[in-house]
Amino acid sequence: MGTILEVHDLTKYFGGLGAVRNVSFTLHQGETLGIIGPNGAGKTTIFNLLTGFLKPSRGMITFRGESIVGLKPWTIVNKGIARTFQIVRPFHQLTTFENVTISCLSQTGASKGRKDGGVEEKSGKFLESVGLSGKEGMLAKDLSHGDLKRLELARALATEPELLLLDEPFAGLGLQEIYSLSPLIQKLSQEGHSIIIIEHKLRELMKLVKRVITLNFGEKIADGTPEELSRDEKVIQAYLGKGGQTLVTV
Ligand SMILES: Nc1ncnc2c1ncn2[C@@H]1O[C@H](COP(=O)(O)OP(=O)(O)O)[C@@H](O)[C@H]1O
Ligand SMILES: [Mg+2]
Repeated sequence: MGTILEVHDLTKYFGGLGAVRNVSFTLHQGETLGIIGPNGAGKTTIFNLLTGFLKPSRGMITFRGESIVGLKPWTIVNKGIARTFQIVRPFHQLTTFENVTISCLSQTGASKGRKDGGVEEKSGKFLESVGLSGKEGMLAKDLSHGDLKRLELARALATEPELLLLDEPFAGLGLQEIYSLSPLIQKLSQEGHSIIIIEHKLRELMKLVKRVITLNFGEKIADGTPEELSRDEKVIQAYLGKGGQTLVTV
């Protein structure tokens, strides 16, 4: 399997704070990778660096063989990387449908859309794919938290990404909502998307990934299967705690 994303020596300082330091990893085409670690470990900062919201202090990011360091966020979206945010941020006064339509229009989607059936049709399709059919006309501000997470995903999908970055997709959701969102992420993976998921809900995360990176104080301290991590002393010390969270679900 080919490599879709290569990150080498990625480093970001905020003043004296090394939020991300010397992080290297690769993502294979079609792989779903997890990123875990304590609050403040640098997880979201990595997404901000990958998507051009922040510029690295040092390091290399190669997407499909091409450096994307220094590119603007919208250029990176057009190259095929989309993200969701830890804190959802839809346009609250617009409808569910309008929120997705804007994402469709704001990319190459505008030209692509005309070719493959029009933006409205596509918006409907993306809403359906995340299970929001029937709620097209609701204002985003009136959606439940679970539905907002779905809308967030639909907006990311509307940019037709190859690589999808999900920042805590399960945060704030009850188990039932997680159980209905999780198969959706699985489906996206089966359809061929490459995915990186930051998540604290480890049991649920481990159902979706075969490999996980652990960050602590900005550094990558482990990279392996859920089982390997659950036995890794550094990961236990930094994050899992002794006899604390269970990584492996079976
Ligand atoms: N834009 C910023 N300016 C200054 N400090 C930041 C900024 N973004 C994140 N940080 C700091 O960088 C560290 C890593 O943050 P973050 O990547 O959000 O962690 P995580 O997502 O793992 O909880 C934290 O100490 C945070 O306060
Ligand atoms: Mg975060």
